[in-house]
Amino acid sequence: MDKQLIENTLLEYGTPCKVYTYEQLPSTNTTAKDIARCGEAEFTLVCADKQSEGRGRLGRSFYSPEDSGLYLSLIVRPKFTFDDAFLITPCTAVAVADVLKEKYNKNPQIKWVNDIYINSRKVCGILTESSFAKDGFTEWAVIGIGINLTAPKNGFPDEISSIASGVFTTSEQNPAREQITAQIISSVIRLYKMLPDTSFIEAYKEMSFLKQKMVFLQSGESVKVLGISDRCGLIIQHSDGKVETLTSSDVSVKIADSSV
Ligand code: BTN
Repeated sequence: MDKQLIENTLLEYGTPCKVYTYEQLPSTNTTAKDIARCGEAEFTLVCADKQSEGRGRLGRSFYSPEDSGLYLSLIVRPKFTFDDAFLITPCTAVAVADVLKEKYNKNPQIKWVNDIYINSRKVCGILTESSFAKDGFTEWAVIGIGINLTAPKNGFPDEISSIASGVFTTSEQNPAREQITAQIISSVIRLYKMLPDTSFIEAYKEMSFLKQKMVFLQSGESVKVLGISDRCGLIIQHSDGKVETLTSSDVSVKIADSSV
């Protein structure tokens, strides 16, 4: 990708950002974390055309072939407690979904806590990794965003072929990679700056993909999703009627009638 074009477009959008582009990296999050540790400034973006070891939440891998996806990691330097740092991922999900909706007329939904779905298939995953100082506040965070713009040339691997999809079909007029990168990062920076007022949470609730669905918790228990709490927790109802709010970023849920 053309680094200068992304930087110029971000400047034009009023959200200046330093950009590093690579043809290939093991993981843009790993590189961004390395340079954040060495003091790289807030609003620095690391992009790669492909990743050999793309990572997702809970130790999962993120399939990152060349040409069909965007692999982006943005360094931010908030002073957040652990609880506020948890909100970076949902805030980013709203920012990315807003671009897909407003600029490309798509109908994105957010699967708690970090995935974006279109037509019931995953098109984007977000992995935020943070470093906390001894005082309990964040020193930096790296916001990793992986988006399948289209299906890969040779299709998705079997393990994810029934749940993954591209934002655009190959017959659609696809935006230039630099343009959509700048639109997404600009939207993320803008919403991130407003994160403390938590106004994005209303949009997060409205775009919830899991609401009223039956899901499996990691324990195997099936529960009903009632909605999203005011701090982006997942409100669930157990079969005995007990209502609970899941807040741990370590929890994963599977929809009861598929394997997302
Ligand atoms: C998930 O699906 O659980 C999150 C996936 C996050 C993938 C992105 S791609 C850019 C950045 N680099 C990584 O290694 N992971 C994130």
